[in-house]
Amino acid sequence: MKSINIVILAAGKGTRMNSSKPKVLQTLVDKTLLEHVLMQAQNLCSQIYVVIGFGGAQVRQMIDKDSINWIAQNKQLGTGHAVQQAMPHISDDSITLVLYGDVPLIRQKTLSNLVEQAQKTGIALLSAVLDNPTDYGRILRKNNQIQAIVEQKDANTKQLACREVNAGIMALDSGLLKTYLGNLKADNAQGEFYLSDVIGIAVKDGKTIASVVVKDENEILGINDKVQLAKLERILQQKQANQFMQQGLMLKDPARFDCRGSLNFGQDCEIDVNVLIEGEVVLGNNTYIASNCIIKNAKIGDNVSILSNSVIENAVIANGACIGPFARIRPKSNIGENAKIGNFVEIKKSAIDKDSKISHLSYIGDSIIGKGVNIGAGVITCNYDGVNKHQTIIKDGVFVGSDTQLIAPVSIGKNAKIGAGSTITKDLADGQLGLSRAKQTTLKNWQRPTKK
Ligand code: UD1
Ligand code: CA
Repeated sequence: MKSINIVILAAGKGTRMNSSKPKVLQTLVDKTLLEHVLMQAQNLCSQIYVVIGFGGAQVRQMIDKDSINWIAQNKQLGTGHAVQQAMPHISDDSITLVLYGDVPLIRQKTLSNLVEQAQKTGIALLSAVLDNPTDYGRILRKNNQIQAIVEQKDANTKQLACREVNAGIMALDSGLLKTYLGNLKADNAQGEFYLSDVIGIAVKDGKTIASVVVKDENEILGINDKVQLAKLERILQQKQANQFMQQGLMLKDPARFDCRGSLNFGQDCEIDVNVLIEGEVVLGNNTYIASNCIIKNAKIGDNVSILSNSVIENAVIANGACIGPFARIRPKSNIGENAKIGNFVEIKKSAIDKDSKISHLSYIGDSIIGKGVNIGAGVITCNYDGVNKHQTIIKDGVFVGSDTQLIAPVSIGKNAKIGAGSTITKDLADGQLGLSRAKQTTLKNWQRPTKK
């Protein structure tokens, strides 16, 4: 068995994307196009070469993997020219597998089949039979044997009618590939050195070309513009949603659900429409997520309700808690069992213990809140003095009256109580009542002003 080298072509600008980003850095679901390809390539070989050109520095920075050998193609003179840039690094006595950075759904299994064919015969290419072969290079066969590939722009009417297309992906004996690349000419409609011409040259050299025909044409779909990118995104989201539903997750409308990451769930979970899951999210059993929620990197327990329009990021929500509607749980927050976080409440880097309630319009930041605490409407922990952040500690059983500001650092003892409308600057011991409220003045003979 010869060793395998993978060359991934990613130097093109992707003009049709109309973007300042190189095409291979466009995102599909949760990764860039190039990362999708790398993921499938990773386990196949010892060496990966990525050919970069347009926005090359950006690509390197974004992907940042030590295992990749970056190859510069300074001028985009065609796919054959691109492969040629990597060949000096590759030994003759190996197999070179060429992949495209803009063909993201290729599967590792398909690639290993292709390589296996190339190990036996020297040259193998990947093809598909499409209803609409427009834009692809067509594969020309005689007596079922592959003769050559002709590009769309160079093809005659008869050739254009051929529906078997070149996926662009091929595996070749590296020594042969070097020789044939040296024979390429740019005498075609685009004035480029086509990798696809290697096939015709090999046939003239007496070689037989093996082929692997993919059944699922999505696997070889090349992404050229944002319409195709969005279409592929929907295909993948729908596929993923179907898998989740088959595993028991109830999605009210799979067409209005997106998961850009991983989602694990127990039994009887239900997700309403327009929910976005990002990063790693875990749901326990019997948990409900209402419409329009965004949940990113969160561990959510059993019997939890996340009500509409809530945003949760990097947080842990324990069993039986209820969040929302319109709640925002920010990173490093921990919501305890059966706790309730109500509407227009923002929690940042805080731990809220069991059975505590923050039901309306509050900001809780850098705080540790005990068990069975009741935080009234409009309570604010003033955690920031303009320079540093400070902590607020509220022990078990405390009652904080509405419209209170807690000026951190401050600590409130067990079962203490704070009267509504207070500005608390000093610690309270267990059981104390804290109150900072100007005395009310009532004017008996006051009269409402009249309009002049
Ligand atoms: C190519 C194939 C075509 C095939 C199709 C499949 C050639 C000449 N044509 O056409 O037969 O059906 O892919 O999708 O091979 N690239 C470089 N450097 C260059 C030119 C391109 O790195 O100088 C990269 C691009 O970034 C891209 C890939 O090669 O990732 C394919 O290039 P593209 O211009 O999209 O080729 P197609 O016209 O689609
Ligand atoms: Ca293409």
